[in-house]
Amino acid sequence: MCGIVGYVGRRNAVPILVQALKDLEYRGYDSAGIAVLAPESNRLVIVKREGKIARLEAALAEAGIPDANLGIGHTRWATHGRPADHNAHPHTSCHGEVVVIHNGIVENYAELRAELVSRGHRFASETDTETVAHLMEEQLAEGHSLLDALRLVAGRLEGSQAIVAASPREPNALVAARVGNAGGIVIGFGEGESFLASDLPALLPHTRRVVFLEDGQFARVSADDVLVVGRDGARLEIPVHEVALDPSSALKGPYPHFMLKEMLEQPEAISDTIRSLVTFEPPTLHLDDVPISPERLRQVQRVVLIGMGTSLHAAMVGRQFVEQIARLPAEADNASEFRHREPVIDARTLVVSVTQSGETVDVLEAMAVAARAGALQITVCNTEGSQATRLADGTVYTRAGVERCVASTKCFTTALAALYGLALWLGHIRGVLDSGELQHHLSELMRVPDACARALELRPAAQRLAAELASTASMLYLGRGLAYPVAMEGALKMKEVSYIHAEGYAAGEMKHGPIALIEPSVPTVAVAPKHALRSKMAANVEQVRARGGRVIAVVTEGDEELIRLADAALPVPEVSRLAEPIVAVVPLQLLAYETAVARGCDVDQPRNLAKTVTVE
Ligand code: G6P
Repeated sequence: MCGIVGYVGRRNAVPILVQALKDLEYRGYDSAGIAVLAPESNRLVIVKREGKIARLEAALAEAGIPDANLGIGHTRWATHGRPADHNAHPHTSCHGEVVVIHNGIVENYAELRAELVSRGHRFASETDTETVAHLMEEQLAEGHSLLDALRLVAGRLEGSQAIVAASPREPNALVAARVGNAGGIVIGFGEGESFLASDLPALLPHTRRVVFLEDGQFARVSADDVLVVGRDGARLEIPVHEVALDPSSALKGPYPHFMLKEMLEQPEAISDTIRSLVTFEPPTLHLDDVPISPERLRQVQRVVLIGMGTSLHAAMVGRQFVEQIARLPAEADNASEFRHREPVIDARTLVVSVTQSGETVDVLEAMAVAARAGALQITVCNTEGSQATRLADGTVYTRAGVERCVASTKCFTTALAALYGLALWLGHIRGVLDSGELQHHLSELMRVPDACARALELRPAAQRLAAELASTASMLYLGRGLAYPVAMEGALKMKEVSYIHAEGYAAGEMKHGPIALIEPSVPTVAVAPKHALRSKMAANVEQVRARGGRVIAVVTEGDEELIRLADAALPVPEVSRLAEPIVAVVPLQLLAYETAVARGCDVDQPRNLAKTVTVE
């Protein structure tokens, strides 16, 4: 989950690397560093600092780093070794012959380190990464090329890795490796220059012509040439992709935080997602990136939806869509639990993975388990060309654009829209939904962007509530039916960005434990829109109030009874039952955001988190 960048060309690498690291800072931000090859001395110059990129920039200015045409950079999310200058990447070897940046975990690093120490190597950090630099230096000393050194060393590493390395011995090239699913490596082609990065946002300002390395591929990248080889060193022909993402959408613009910008982008993002799946007059679904035959789909007897974090909550909503629309048995599972559980799946199971990045390691590993069992796979994903889209038999793309805030907002609501579309498509193909019903659902779905836009007008109300919530230590979120995963997501948003302890529960569970927590200082958020078992939720609200608890209720506009019953209400526009979760989550996002702002938190980059989690 660290960010990796590399540049080789004719321009000065330093500002390009620093900007690329800023574009990737959401991946990890406990330390950062760059290494360049000084052209005159042909020596590696490394500058690295604990903390955010701003500290690295100050250190670079102070160090007077030389202009250089080749360099690498890294932003770190610590796994081995605490955040500290000496543990920051890049890491080098004893004689400064190799410099390495890395994403992933060298699982056998302790053994390798002991072996290297016994051969006289001295280590400067506590990281697993440094072993790679030392091992590569040994290979270079034996006369191997830089690419072969990396390939041979990668063969000795256990676990999943993405590695980029440089050496004064080959001053015109960078080398890169992808082993397993710890993280991607994307190579970008410019005019007389080449780029490397762990993911696309860092490359988009420079080029849209890219190559994604697959598991077991190694590359040597120079200004005018890229060579990709397999594990055996044999040359591979790799297709160049043209990516369509608009780099301007990745900028913060006038907004104080990406989270706010991204929440406000939801109506458009949901609309774009729906439009990419629906043709109008008459409304029909076309899932262009799911090239699976109707015959094959009709063999499906069960659907398992998987994801992590916010995407798991989307999968939990999706499970209900599949059951209620396509009438197929469905379940939702945490990908990291699923993959280790020896799940009972076969060729009649459809596994739907939900993943914004398409690179979350737990999701990719769960997909590998599903692939081994012969399951059919569809991924709901926001990132073109990502690993999940390449592993699945088909992709339903969410059209959210680049999401930069670590806490996910527009990728959640667009995933819900995409899952709704997918469930309709399954239902239609399986003959449980006729064209009239399909059209009715689609017209309901098309009302969602406007309803979300109106729900976003609750921001001032959320701001007022946030002023009170800012001093709260603990909160409960309750919901039923489709609002249950929404309550979970509301609680997750609150804890992620404001650091307030918040738990999401199925409201029926309240009296089996959480009710013991209720007291005036523990507010409850009741997610109770009209169609989500609203009268049972009203009873829950009564129960909380009877015990002196304070209730903030998300209700449907005009529900005067609940508005009166609750201490505060966030009324959202009425939409159809299945569309409700997409609208009901919006005030919860606003509440979390405004509370985090009121508490002075680092909204876009909360402590300890990372946007794309590529370690288990
Ligand atoms: C991290 C992020 C979450 C995200 C989760 C799954 O935990 O902080 O916002 O929901 O990963 O990511 P994915 O890219 O698979 O949706």
